[in-house]
Amino acid sequence: MAKNIRYVKVADKNEAAGIVLERMREELAGGLEVLGLATGSTMEPIYEAWAGSDLDFSGVTSFNLDEYVGLGADNANSYAWFMNQHLFSKKPFKETNIPDGTADNLAEECEEYEARLRDAGIDLQFLGVGENGHIAFNEPGTPFTSITHVTQLTDSTLGVNSQYFEDRSAIPETALTMGIASILSAKKIILIAFGEKKRHALEQLAKGQETTEFPITALLSHQDVTIITDLDNIQP
Ligand code: GLP
Repeated sequence: MAKNIRYVKVADKNEAAGIVLERMREELAGGLEVLGLATGSTMEPIYEAWAGSDLDFSGVTSFNLDEYVGLGADNANSYAWFMNQHLFSKKPFKETNIPDGTADNLAEECEEYEARLRDAGIDLQFLGVGENGHIAFNEPGTPFTSITHVTQLTDSTLGVNSQYFEDRSAIPETALTMGIASILSAKKIILIAFGEKKRHALEQLAKGQETTEFPITALLSHQDVTIITDLDNIQP
């Protein structure tokens, strides 16, 4: 078993939210300044617990993983909207950063975003995982050396994520995403995965073999990863 990966088995989302809340409390007390944030349904109970807590993020700068191309903060399907809705409107941060999917020059936006996050240095990065093993929007095949870039979403991701869009055709087929190397630059990583739909992806990680076919396996080379999951029999 990879020594850098610690598994925390939880009974349910509530237990996970409680554990993450206490971990955040410790990290903040320990001087955390830069936090990497994720979106997706997995993060909702986590942010709900933070929002209802006494945690103070007013000294924290955040960087989100990704954003759909073409969707601005005023669009209810954008990740900027999600973050405002679930966290930023409830907890003040020192500064928040989300890649701008409406930028005129997306390549430039990616370059600047990468420079900002490298300059800040992420202390702790939260991650979910896609059913196909993607992390952020790094789809299968993405090099582990990738930095923030524009990505083409796969049919699998479009299929899964279109459930949040009223009209299937309204989901953007491209997104801006931190790269795998950007994510691995964080000092610590916490990945959260709930439900059987995520079993296949976690099984690939448990095999202990890095492969770009399953971006989640990039975590095998990171020095400090915690996996929080309600899945049984997933630890190597
Ligand atoms: C999206 C995001 C990922 C997230 C994944 C899982 O594709 N880009 O960062 O991890 O969804 O989403 P959920 O938590 O809804 O299962």
